[in-house]
Amino acid sequence: MKVNITETVLRDANQSLIATRLPFSDFEGILEKIDNAGYHSVECWGGATYDSCLRYLNEDPWERLRKIKSKIKKTRLQMLLRGQNLIAYKHYPDDVVRKFVEHAIQNGIDIMRIFDALNDFRNIEVAVDQTLKSGGHAQGTICYTISPIHNLANYVKWGKQLEEMGVDSICIKDMSGIMGPQEAYDLIKALKDTVTKPVVLHTHCTTGLGPMTYYKAIEAGVDVIDCAISAFSGGTSQPPTESLHFALKQAGYETGLNEDILKEINDFFKPVKDKFLESGVLDPYVLGSDTDALVYQVPGGMLSNLLSQLKHSNSLDRLQEVLQEIPQVRKELGYPPLVTPMSQIVGVQATTNVLMGERYENISSEVRSYFKGEYGRAPGEVDTEIMKKVLGDEKPITQRFADTLEPGFEKARQEIGNLAKNDEDVLSYIIFPPIAEKFFQYREESAALKVNYTIMKV
Ligand code: CO
Repeated sequence: MKVNITETVLRDANQSLIATRLPFSDFEGILEKIDNAGYHSVECWGGATYDSCLRYLNEDPWERLRKIKSKIKKTRLQMLLRGQNLIAYKHYPDDVVRKFVEHAIQNGIDIMRIFDALNDFRNIEVAVDQTLKSGGHAQGTICYTISPIHNLANYVKWGKQLEEMGVDSICIKDMSGIMGPQEAYDLIKALKDTVTKPVVLHTHCTTGLGPMTYYKAIEAGVDVIDCAISAFSGGTSQPPTESLHFALKQAGYETGLNEDILKEINDFFKPVKDKFLESGVLDPYVLGSDTDALVYQVPGGMLSNLLSQLKHSNSLDRLQEVLQEIPQVRKELGYPPLVTPMSQIVGVQATTNVLMGERYENISSEVRSYFKGEYGRAPGEVDTEIMKKVLGDEKPITQRFADTLEPGFEKARQEIGNLAKNDEDVLSYIIFPPIAEKFFQYREESAALKVNYTIMKV
């Protein structure tokens, strides 16, 4: 029996442990080894990587992808796409979504993992369709969470809906690491009995359940699991690649991974990890297990964001209160899974509710948009009193929000003018306007500096 393993060190592990601060130069030297290790795929782009490249690392995210592709030639590259939100926090018009997907595939992405935070599949349809049209592998995703609405029957129904949409594989995304081994077994078994497409399980070690959950999922027939090379595994990141490989091999499964190369990859990342520990970017807190998440269902990335928000406002002592407020806010919003952008939206509102002393005294514009229906359908019933407080007499919309948006690509191209060198730049500008502009300027200045330097040398 073969179990396929996807390596997440370049994306999810990087995002969960070190707030996506890994520069290209820190992993360039190991890409060829990664390519030869025998992974099913390498998750390396999307999620927060794009934002972080432009905002903190002064890297062109597209160039980073091309550079990764030039070294990882055999193994499929994978990205995480937030459906109609692309790699950001609001819905974009369909022409922008199509352009983005098309260019991501052209620049090197093979597997497009596409999710909607609310599991409102109207918000992933266009990205799935474009992935298939551009020759990519469309992985339809169901965000896993626990609530009265999120039960086995519904998960199976959603799996079937994805298959009907034409996806190539189905991923269950447990971003909080709250799925227990028995739940995994039951869920994967039920899906494998219903759908014909490969089933992928994604989890985190946050609560300590991760490796057990994977093991039971494998017994139930899961096709692919996501792991991180051990130096960047555990805690809010994925279960360790080598340990899963070791355990599976003992039980007679094949992973296709080369142990010697895994060792080399891990040895490469050990000093990288030490560097981030020393600089304080890697907070030892996120490396441990925290079973509170079984109660609060707080995903890794969200927990580290909350910590830094509270640290920033000198209120780290209110963490417990905020963690208790989160499930309350979530219930009032109709049980959205806590995944980007919902994790941020719920997190910020819960923090505000606690720090302001009165609940919903300050309402974020995102919570307002949510109640208006601009993120899609709430999974369950929203709290009508809170909705009234937020919207007043305004009526929420029921159609797909992107249908209300004007096409945006050509307009943005005109707007940014010569600063954008290609379509990819225009996309960066559409998604992160001020940051992209700043980056383009930085790029021009550093190019000018390089020219001067060359002239001086001559
Ligand atoms: Co994840």
